[in-house]
Amino acid sequence: MSTVTATRFSRSAERLAEIKPSPIRAIFDRAAALEASGEKVYHFEIGRPDFDTPQVAKDATSAALARGEVHYGPNAGTPELRRAISGYLQDRRGTTYDPVSEVIVTIGANEAVFLALMAFCGPGDEVIVPVPAWAHYESCIRLAGATPIPVRLDAANDFRLDIEAISAAITENTRMVILCTPNNPTGGVATRQEIEALAAVLEPTDALLMSDEIYADLVYGDVKHESPAGVGSLRERTLVIGGFAKAFAMDGWRLGWLAGPRELITPALRVRQYTTVCAPTFLQPGATAALNHAGPDAEMMRGEFEQRRAAGLALLQDIPGVKVSQPDGAFYFYLTYSPDVAEPAEQLALRLLDEHNVAVVPGTAFDPQGGTHSIRISYACHIEDLTEGLRRIVQTLTATTAKGA
Ligand SMILES: Cc1ncc(COP(=O)(O)O)c(C=O)c1O
Repeated sequence: MSTVTATRFSRSAERLAEIKPSPIRAIFDRAAALEASGEKVYHFEIGRPDFDTPQVAKDATSAALARGEVHYGPNAGTPELRRAISGYLQDRRGTTYDPVSEVIVTIGANEAVFLALMAFCGPGDEVIVPVPAWAHYESCIRLAGATPIPVRLDAANDFRLDIEAISAAITENTRMVILCTPNNPTGGVATRQEIEALAAVLEPTDALLMSDEIYADLVYGDVKHESPAGVGSLRERTLVIGGFAKAFAMDGWRLGWLAGPRELITPALRVRQYTTVCAPTFLQPGATAALNHAGPDAEMMRGEFEQRRAAGLALLQDIPGVKVSQPDGAFYFYLTYSPDVAEPAEQLALRLLDEHNVAVVPGTAFDPQGGTHSIRISYACHIEDLTEGLRRIVQTLTATTAKGA
């Protein structure tokens, strides 16, 4: 990575002090350099589908461009897309949101997370994040000036939600709890009982719940995604995050949503009015078409991921000293290994890339303290690449005697 020299102009704002560059970036940049030199790289570091966007979405956006839909739109999104999101949440998750006042179309799920944190969390507020977790939460919490409170989940318990630990972490300063189900990076899916137990813990508090459901459509076997907003009385304190990137292979479109009760959506919309103003106008008909008509495409992709998951698990199970839980959702394997098996994850990730052309993400990207001997492998890639790359990982983990551990 290039180094940046400080100048008298480069003093950044205090709020950036604890925001570190992403550890994923180091792997990503190195993988890109290797690829640029003509090497084949097995990309397991990227959390995005390898499929193309459904044609119906592309056609609708081409038509919108042809019609000249190139100007500013409503702050909260086009009425058609908000209606489609509301209808989809009703059909798929059984939750009811008024498309006029309870849904904002965002620039990716990323912006939905940012709006929620900026609208409700600030200095003195604590936000509980079960870890391992998607690293953006911590950085966005800090950007908002609030304090992340990590609650470490146990690998031995398949990283299941630990309601007692969450309960113990709650203080009078707790402003929000973040739940990501299905989970990035573990693939865990919260059960209705777990969500009910969380609801009971939150009941006496004023804490909000951010429910990141971006992987909701990617669940496997007979596992069912439960939206916390549909459990007990949680709806009134829950901000639901969703998007198009994962299930519809539309990550580059940068579209998502924030849904919640009107009282919570109104302040979030105020942040939006002074930041990004609105999502790109001509992309929204494409997203509307995806929700209304691309269900079969999404189901085809989900089916492919399910097959890859089975193929990958068959290769990864039964490696001595390595634990991989069956991921019920999303498209990641999260491997945890004993220090006898290999060096710490950041070094292992570099060695896998440098010696075997396999790019993975070290667990420290998801939990700096607890993820030192874990790696995340995305299986959103072609099955032949998946099996060859996994074969190389298995070979490395079975051949290694602790180096620098
Ligand atoms: C858990 C989680 N939430 C949100 C996002 C952001 O999605 P988007 O690309 O829609 O901004 C990601 C992307 O990787 C994610 O893994």
